[in-house]
Amino acid sequence: MTVSKHKVTARSRFERDRVFDFLIEKPTRDSLVDTKHGNILYLEDITVSFDGFKALNELTLYIEFGELRCIIGPNGAGKTTMMDVITGKTRPDYGSAFYGQRLDLLRLSEPEIASLGIGRKFQKPTVFPNHTVYENLELAKAADKRVWPTLFRKLSAEERDVLRRNLELIGLAEQAQTPAGTLSHGQKQWLEIGMLLMQNPLLLLVDEPVAGMTKQETEATAELLVRLAGEHSVVVVEHDMEFVRSIARKVTVLHEGSVLAEGSMDDVQNDQKVIEVYLGA
Ligand SMILES: Nc1ncnc2c1ncn2[C@@H]1O[C@H](COP(=O)(O)OP(=O)(O)OP(=O)(O)O)[C@@H](O)[C@H]1O
Ligand SMILES: [Mg+2]
Repeated sequence: MTVSKHKVTARSRFERDRVFDFLIEKPTRDSLVDTKHGNILYLEDITVSFDGFKALNELTLYIEFGELRCIIGPNGAGKTTMMDVITGKTRPDYGSAFYGQRLDLLRLSEPEIASLGIGRKFQKPTVFPNHTVYENLELAKAADKRVWPTLFRKLSAEERDVLRRNLELIGLAEQAQTPAGTLSHGQKQWLEIGMLLMQNPLLLLVDEPVAGMTKQETEATAELLVRLAGEHSVVVVEHDMEFVRSIARKVTVLHEGSVLAEGSMDDVQNDQKVIEVYLGA
């Protein structure tokens, strides 16, 4: 071990930290995610192969800040793989993926990407069944890795307000004291969305949110996702065309790992290529 000839005393270390705190404005998440040019996500030429098979084939796709984008396409088109790339679960063979102008997603780990505000909702809800709805939301906040120490931390008054607002937003205010395990399938899905919201994500990825839901639950989910857009950018993958039509602004059709068509629901539904490979079936 080499010993530095400049002895760092406890005091000088303390002062140095203080000077740094004073001089350098610590970057916040929202200052790191640069959306000045209007887009929150830039995927370019993303290619992912599994044993030579290209699940994504030079996929290029941009998501605007605050938009609600629906992604549709046949089974195996690469929709879930695209989400895996965005969240750092799968690394592409080549291509680029930027979150805002400056953050290179391909250089960030899964936890880093999550803590920078990309939240993903998986199909199978992962709520804590023996805890109440309220406690689930509380735990989701407490598990926020940006705050340390995390576990069993008491929420601040402001965080409790956010929690209450999220409870209203997901339509579970009346179920606040209900154990999550006794909720309906749809309610569990909303709770999970609420848990993601506790981390205040900038970009939400939702894969097949209405699978297995009743018609009423599907409609409530549509309203919820529409409400989330604007403040959050939301990317929804779904096969239920009635649902997609009810929320769609801009729709992207994926096929064999690339964009087949993009536009309004009417545009893509009348697109001959889309009818052939997907909607015509
Ligand atoms: N880990 C993996 N190993 C091997 N092949 C994979 C892997 N993940 C996905 N694939 C293949 O990549 C292709 C794209 O799969 P992906 O799950 O992204 O499709 P999808 O559009 O989400 O389909 P679905 O609508 O059925 O959910 C499929 O052919 C799939 O079998
Ligand atoms: Mg999928």
